[in-house]
Amino acid sequence: MVTPTQFGSGDCTALRSLLFQFTRIRPRSRADLVFQVSNAFAGSRFRIVDSHNTPSVVLLVDDEPFRMALKAEFEPTTSSTKELRWHSVISEALVDQIRPLFLVRGPRFTVFATDYLRDCQDLDSLVLAGAVDGPGATVLIEKALQVNDVAYASSTTEMSAAAADRLYVGRYEARKSSRDVPHWLRSLYSAPRIVINDKPHLGPDAGLTTLRRQNVLWRDLVPTTAGLSHGDLHCGNILSNGTHAHPIDPRGSEEIPIEYDLGKVFQSIRGGYGSIMHGEYAVASEGYRRYELRIHQPKAYQSALRQLDSRISEGTHLRVRLAEAVHFLSMAGHHSRIPDEALALFLRGVQLLDELLERMGLRSRA
Ligand SMILES: Nc1ncnc2c1ncn2[C@@H]1O[C@H](COP(=O)(O)OP(=O)(O)OP(=O)(O)O)[C@@H](O)[C@H]1O
Ligand SMILES: [Mg+2]
Repeated sequence: MVTPTQFGSGDCTALRSLLFQFTRIRPRSRADLVFQVSNAFAGSRFRIVDSHNTPSVVLLVDDEPFRMALKAEFEPTTSSTKELRWHSVISEALVDQIRPLFLVRGPRFTVFATDYLRDCQDLDSLVLAGAVDGPGATVLIEKALQVNDVAYASSTTEMSAAAADRLYVGRYEARKSSRDVPHWLRSLYSAPRIVINDKPHLGPDAGLTTLRRQNVLWRDLVPTTAGLSHGDLHCGNILSNGTHAHPIDPRGSEEIPIEYDLGKVFQSIRGGYGSIMHGEYAVASEGYRRYELRIHQPKAYQSALRQLDSRISEGTHLRVRLAEAVHFLSMAGHHSRIPDEALALFLRGVQLLDELLERMGLRSRA
């Protein structure tokens, strides 16, 4: 049984009949779900955005009476509820942000609809196309962080050391042993030494162990407060027309420290996550545990990095660096369909973790 859980301003006869069509959907697979949802819009203009590394599919419908972005998800279907909640909190507080329209939940699927921003593109695409410069990127990122802060600031609670450990190390451990991580990459996590661009780096297991052994320093590195936060605030999830910033695609959980989301932002502007997602990188194996890695670093992000870096305290800076490195190191499984991409993300994480160790004076002892 399909249950419409929320109606926005699109509550009208056409919307009712659309929702009625959704009650008949019985998808047997992800592709079947996309086919059946597309059928509901037969005769309308719509575009399918099918990213290669996530289980959901986005349909952008741009025709009267519908202008909406729908996210269709075939099992598991847990994230739509959290997306709906985050967008509800934000759009109630800020009038210019994306409004959730409805969420339908059916057998083995969900379809979540929001406003469609037809004049916007994600910030990575704008920056890589040269459509936004350094000061422009800085302002847009700051606006996105302010939007995120609306939900976060009103919901912060203490985060225990154990919870922080679970979020960072627990997630890293779980993701690295996921069966989606290709076997050739799996053994690299425990490698004592990985050479990237002729420079030796500590392998990630060894790097994290070295950091955690320094009990006092580790407590400084892991966050102490958490709140309702976006949870995936990389620049590919910030839509903009050059003036406004609209975060989309939230994980929207209450147990996320703000440094976690800052880590996502810095993963884009320092780490080059967007360049890797757009194929603007090169990676090659040069021998046993020896690699060459080149990632395009757009000038606009380099400039935004300098600006944003200078505005955060040294303590926050180190915590953000830890989050950023762990984000990269936890991604390989989701990107396994393109082996070079999985390898580039992993190696970038190795580089960033090593830089953190160096910065903390732990590299020589390691
Ligand atoms: N409300 C919207 N208005 C305009 N375009 C949108 C909207 N929502 C999504 N898009 C377009 O669809 C793309 C993918 O959307 P989104 O980031 O929500 O999904 P995803 O990253 O593929 O999925 P996942 O939640 O599984 O990570 C966006 O980069 C953007 O181009
Ligand atoms: Mg996304």
